[in-house]
Amino acid sequence: MENTDMKQIQWFPGHMAKTRRLIAANLKLVDAVVEIVDARTPLSSRNPEMDSMTKGKPRMILLNKCDLADDKATQKWINYFRSTGAEAMAVDCKSGKGVKNLLSNVKNTVLKELMEKRQRSGMTGASVRLMIVGIPNVGKSSLINRLAGGKRAKVEDRPGVTRTKQWVKLDNSAELLDMPGVLWPKFEDQSAAVRLAFTGAISDDILDIETLAMKLLSFLSENYPDSLVQRYKVELSDEDTGLDLLEKVGRKRGMMISGGEINTERAAITVLDEFRSGKLGRITLELPPQKEQ
Ligand code: G4P
Repeated sequence: MENTDMKQIQWFPGHMAKTRRLIAANLKLVDAVVEIVDARTPLSSRNPEMDSMTKGKPRMILLNKCDLADDKATQKWINYFRSTGAEAMAVDCKSGKGVKNLLSNVKNTVLKELMEKRQRSGMTGASVRLMIVGIPNVGKSSLINRLAGGKRAKVEDRPGVTRTKQWVKLDNSAELLDMPGVLWPKFEDQSAAVRLAFTGAISDDILDIETLAMKLLSFLSENYPDSLVQRYKVELSDEDTGLDLLEKVGRKRGMMISGGEINTERAAITVLDEFRSGKLGRITLELPPQKEQ
């Protein structure tokens, strides 16, 4: 993906430094870190400093929104994260799929030693403490609501608005530390920013909507051509540019403006909306880095 036409994104580095300090200060209070990422963009939706920030702590990476991602790719990502020393699993916090296994998985994998130690010293009643982290919109509130049951009010993290950390007691066996503050995704990498704009994780005004949709269509025609053919009943050719694809979609959907021109803006909004809501099928936007041979 080229990096032209990108508007500068404002990332509030000062705010981020404060969050980083809070995480560092609270790590000693928890037994493990649960990091939520988007299964469609497992690397782009991570905070780039998360590995170094949580170094030494047992970590479970949750590939959330797995209902929208390609199952085969999700499995590759699980294997990849395991190869880096973390544990990983897929969940869908919208329907709740996989969530009920989270605590037992954490206890049986990354906290296995701690659990065995507690068993030996007769402390089996002590609860495990987990810090929940992730970039905005990745599904932290949905996860906590799923685990805690009932609907907790969503607390927005905004620059200038302070909220304190919150412990959420699940039952006698676990407590979650819901961290305040914003963790930004990978911002130094513009193609990561484009992927995040595709999923709607960051505002789509980093690019004009038609450019964004054209980039998405080019990616899909290369990686998921059947999804495009099935959804829009278009014929694809290797020579198609992003604009050709957008026009094909607009034409098929009858999105015309006077004079017989295609309303590419409407087509772009449709493509992005349908991609984000899963109507184009289950799609993953990036694969794990290949191991060096
Ligand atoms: P956050 O606390 O990390 O900021 O994220 P939050 O839980 O608010 O989730 C952000 C959006 O992602 C919500 O949609 C939520 O429903 C959706 N979401 C969370 N987990 C999943 C999942 O596993 N699958 C799918 N498909 N969506 C998920 P929203 O449009 O902002 O709100 P609403 O649709 O819930 O009203």
